[in-house]
Amino acid sequence: RAIRLEDYAPPQWRVDTVHLDFDLDPERTRVRSRMELTRLVDGSAPLVLNGQDLGLEGLQVDGRDWPEDRRSLEPERLVLHDLPATCVVELETVLEPRANTALEGLYVSGGNFCTQCEAEGFRRITWFPDRPDVLTVYTVRLEADRATCPVLLSNGNPVETGDLPGGRHYAVWHDPFPKPSYLFALVAGDLVCQQDRFTTRSGREVDLRIYVQRHNLDRCDHAMVSLKKAMRWDEETFGREYDLDIYMIVAVDDFNMGAMENKGLNVFNSKYVLARPETATDDDFVAIEGVIAHEYFHNWSGNRVTCRDWFQLSLKEGLTVFRDQEFTADQSLRAVKRIHDVQHLRSLQFPEDAGPMAHPVRPRSYIEINNFYTMTVYEKGAEVVRMIQTLVGREGFRRGLDLYFQRHDGQAVTTEDFVRAMEDATGRDLGPFRLWYEQAGTPRLEVDGHHDAATATYRLTVRQSCPPTPDQPEKRPMHIPLRMALLDPSGRPLPLRLHGDGDGEAPPVERVLDVTEAEQTFVFQGVEAPPVPSLLRGFSAPVKLQFPYTHEDLAFLMAHDGDDFNRWEAGQQLAVKVLLAQVRALQAGEEPRLDPALEAAFARVLEDEALDAALVAEALTLPGEGYLAEQMEVVDVDAIHRARRFTRQALGRALAGRWRARHDALADSRGGDAVAMGRRRLRDLCLAYLCAPGEKEALALARSRYEQAQDMTGTMGALRALMDHPGPERDEALADFEARWRQDPLVLDKWFALQAASGAPGTRERVEALMAHPGFSLRNPNRVRALLGTFAMGNPVHFHAADGEGYRLVTEAILELDALNPQVAARLATSLVRWRRFDAARQERMRAALERIVARPGGSPDVYEVASRALA
Ligand code: ARG
Ligand code: ZN
Repeated sequence: RAIRLEDYAPPQWRVDTVHLDFDLDPERTRVRSRMELTRLVDGSAPLVLNGQDLGLEGLQVDGRDWPEDRRSLEPERLVLHDLPATCVVELETVLEPRANTALEGLYVSGGNFCTQCEAEGFRRITWFPDRPDVLTVYTVRLEADRATCPVLLSNGNPVETGDLPGGRHYAVWHDPFPKPSYLFALVAGDLVCQQDRFTTRSGREVDLRIYVQRHNLDRCDHAMVSLKKAMRWDEETFGREYDLDIYMIVAVDDFNMGAMENKGLNVFNSKYVLARPETATDDDFVAIEGVIAHEYFHNWSGNRVTCRDWFQLSLKEGLTVFRDQEFTADQSLRAVKRIHDVQHLRSLQFPEDAGPMAHPVRPRSYIEINNFYTMTVYEKGAEVVRMIQTLVGREGFRRGLDLYFQRHDGQAVTTEDFVRAMEDATGRDLGPFRLWYEQAGTPRLEVDGHHDAATATYRLTVRQSCPPTPDQPEKRPMHIPLRMALLDPSGRPLPLRLHGDGDGEAPPVERVLDVTEAEQTFVFQGVEAPPVPSLLRGFSAPVKLQFPYTHEDLAFLMAHDGDDFNRWEAGQQLAVKVLLAQVRALQAGEEPRLDPALEAAFARVLEDEALDAALVAEALTLPGEGYLAEQMEVVDVDAIHRARRFTRQALGRALAGRWRARHDALADSRGGDAVAMGRRRLRDLCLAYLCAPGEKEALALARSRYEQAQDMTGTMGALRALMDHPGPERDEALADFEARWRQDPLVLDKWFALQAASGAPGTRERVEALMAHPGFSLRNPNRVRALLGTFAMGNPVHFHAADGEGYRLVTEAILELDALNPQVAARLATSLVRWRRFDAARQERMRAALERIVARPGGSPDVYEVASRALA
């Protein structure tokens, strides 16, 4: 049942145009399709159409019924034989949108119709060559009740509207840009819109519309501002302009992923549209800006130039994530954005790359493509694009991207076409670099330095390796760009003269070393005293780097490194060393101690008034439990949790006066800009440290902060500080929050997630009780992610509880959810796949859970693929 890259064959038929006619009804929607077709190959190649859970009400070719003996209707394919080389095929299907709980194809959310077609949802709407290399021009007619569905939308430009008898009405839309079926969309319902305008660089007037349910109309400003920023930024940064007269965004409450870039008609999870300071946190605001930009950027990187097949998914996703990362970096503090992206990569993609679901950025086979919308395809894919930029330079990258868009506009292409455009535009050979697309696993770099005073040289030895991954036992060396500097004992960067450099111009103080071999040595000349190397600056490659730094080296880098990212990284490495030492102490039955080097480093950063508050907050945030787990041979969730909690409490106590002073100084931090957000983040981090030891006075402070909070950021900051401390402060605040926000799904999600993330005893019982809460539903993906996703992926100590109750709870939920929404069930199932990382008893329980899932008759291919790969 697996689909393989090497089996790719070009389409044998072209669809010249398609007309779709929807007669919308929640119980029974009639869909008529009319395709003009041209055969592209000689001979009698049959026409193969995809369909899923579809009937066939009528089939005509060139206006006449097509005989039964020249068609075969299989469960997922309709094959038509002996068609004329050009012909018109008309067919009809009937759908039940209200009964669609998978949220793929046409479904109903909040009483309104919407669609999700990527990757293969279109085949749940009508029979069609549902593959991204079949591009065609769509004309869509929608018909529905005027009273319940006043708004009728589809891709492209509006052509015609009108009234019909019986309280019905219709609209016709035409999209002039040929597109694959995964970019088709329709929306119909009782919606209102916020409107604005944008004038493109070349003078096109674009009508901007954000459609929402009426009660959400006061939460669209931020999304609209973000959209206009993104449009301007893409013109200025990459010369990309919008190409239709209208751009629409629709927010729906039931959505499997974040959002979808359908041409001219983006459909969004309402979580990534709706925000007011009273309902959304600073992080929500930033995420909305990023996702709005991401979907907008897809108009070029994805829609104008699309993917040949789904193995090329990272062609559009890696590139578009890279573009949205750069956009966000330009709206805020670049180093903070980089830190967040690297944390995200390390805590989610590195584990994926080290587990049974590991796959290359360009996968080679899949059972269910929805399982490959992964951290690897998106985030590692973005790192691969970033490395190309590092290798060809910013200007070269811009030229390469221009060439790529110009050369492939209107085409469905491959990652190879992207790399070739970069090479052709810059002359840089990316030959060996291509391995990043093909080889899975996170490379390891082991670096060592040796100073020789007699010759004033410094030798840097770099060894690379990559652990085996499924189907790839042997790994070849990769082309790794290693950005670095050498700091002299006073903290200044040294000129980097390599053996073989000319004596001409002054050597640079930062270089990008091309690491291409399994082992390589770089010899720097004119280095009088032993330097401290600053390696992998800005995280120039997605690798795990090791260098034998001492505590003193790391403290030195924290104080002096000119690279903001590496200054943060030095602090993280110090914290990792300290926390892992505590884990070992706990395992040996000893009492952990607060490391004085860490305490001193924290005190110094906390007092550094010159440093941006946002960077201070990042520096004072300890590495997460997941990242610490990655550093251990056998994960000990309890020891990790206890070590981290101990350190937070000890730092909270040791530096109490400083936390309090900084907290109070930041009390009044208003405004929506990045600086204000950084101040609020630091304020709430100080509060969390103050509360960590659990003393009454601090908890009372958090409680009063909760009462007085001006916005959701402040509310959540206060609640989070209370969450690990059961008692009246926490329980009253939680009850108040629920009473206040019961009717507001996005805010209530936060209430569910907070409780699911709690480290306090009894959390699993609480989660189980919350599944019976009237507000909980397995049909709403946001609610499932808030409660069960947070518990399974964000609460290791309770999910992995030794009694196996966490596994049981999640396994039962997966099985129940699979019958409703396989895509979301499969995501939840990934929480079990890394069972081999734990002790024998936990391994046994997790494996049993996976076996129970695999053995279940009638399960979805989505969940089956995840669980069976995990067991393989
Ligand atoms: N292309 C969308 C985005 O990245 C993601 C949609 C994926 N949906 C899915 N069901 N696999 O913005
Ligand atoms: Zn995307």
